[in-house]
Amino acid sequence: MAASLSDQLQDFISKLNPGGIFGIDIGAHSIKVCELSGSPGKFKIDKFGTFVLSEAAIIEDEIQKPSEIVDGLKEAMSRAGIKSKIACLGLYGPNTMTKRLNVPEGSKEEIEDHIMWEAEQYITFGADESQISFDILGENEGGGNDAIVAAARTDLVENFSKILVEAKITTKIVDLNVFAISNVFEEVYKDNLEEYSQGTLLIDFGAQTTKVVIYKRGGPIFTKELPIGGGLITEEIQRQMGVSYEEAEDLKTSGDENGNLPQEIVNIINSQIDSQVSEVRKNINFYVTQGSAEKVNYCFITGGNSLLPGLSEKLSASTGLEIKTLEIFPAFKVDEKKADKGLDHLAAVSAVAIGLAMRKIG
Ligand SMILES: Nc1ncnc2c1ncn2[C@@H]1O[C@H](COP(=O)(O)OP(=O)(O)OP(=O)(O)O)[C@@H](O)[C@H]1O
Ligand SMILES: [Mg+2]
Repeated sequence: MAASLSDQLQDFISKLNPGGIFGIDIGAHSIKVCELSGSPGKFKIDKFGTFVLSEAAIIEDEIQKPSEIVDGLKEAMSRAGIKSKIACLGLYGPNTMTKRLNVPEGSKEEIEDHIMWEAEQYITFGADESQISFDILGENEGGGNDAIVAAARTDLVENFSKILVEAKITTKIVDLNVFAISNVFEEVYKDNLEEYSQGTLLIDFGAQTTKVVIYKRGGPIFTKELPIGGGLITEEIQRQMGVSYEEAEDLKTSGDENGNLPQEIVNIINSQIDSQVSEVRKNINFYVTQGSAEKVNYCFITGGNSLLPGLSEKLSASTGLEIKTLEIFPAFKVDEKKADKGLDHLAAVSAVAIGLAMRKIG
């Protein structure tokens, strides 16, 4: 099909300004936008902005408050100073999926047919109503090819793209947030990738979901989103303390007026960490059990909820792994002035948006 004039024009503009694509992560708690300069090995976070959403602006992958998201997106871009209108949008949720496949040798067409045929078996939300793409990672030891497939329901892509159109943004690339995390991880730890490729667990502890990626043999072999996150803790504080969503968020992240966490809050946090860690553990059992064929040896965590005091210790006790923070900086250069809540906070919430911004127009 011939590209429309506007597509051609966008291609032309983006080639003139190849760094001009920016990443958009519409999270349940906040929108993040990021624009990078440089290239692999020397990326710099040129522009970064966030906008904190109100309670339940997005539930699962359904946008409940579209005008707030449109305005929030514009505000986050203006705070970041992003002028580009061409974005890579990250998707997530039950209407997306990834699958690692072993594809036999063959011509390009044969490989493609095989991947599409196999992928269709795994898409629970309907292959016909989905957009499917894949990447061939390379030959594997068995003589075949390792491939990774991604799919998203077309109406999910359309619903999110509609929001971007309203904010006068063109979606040039649609990616999955779990891949963005994996791409950031590869960039940050590129000097140790061979070691980490033997089996590393990446976890993004978000507000509404916790994303798990098992990274092995040069890419993700398993991804899963668990319906747990920081929002559950906020809800529990609201319920038990009789405060609003905003007050509960403040209490959890900044403590009381003296900056101390009241004992009731500490108790709520601790009991929530216990149940969330045990949920994570249940879902990754196969990868952390001694003697398992797919055992992982390393674990990196990110996401706002990963900042909870005590979380990494409990996760370590439960999985037997040493837990490290995904240290975005200094692999990505950043001006400290961009971190109004500190570099640790910025690193925790920015990984997905940075990973999306890494995607250049091909
Ligand atoms: N210092 C902190 N201590 C504990 N929790 C924190 C802290 N800072 C932020 N959070 C929590 O982290 C969550 C936001 O993290 P993040 O920005 O990664 O989520 P999100 O990307 O918006 O959500 P999701 O990925 O689920 O769509 C919120 O629940 C927030 O309360
Ligand atoms: Mg998130």
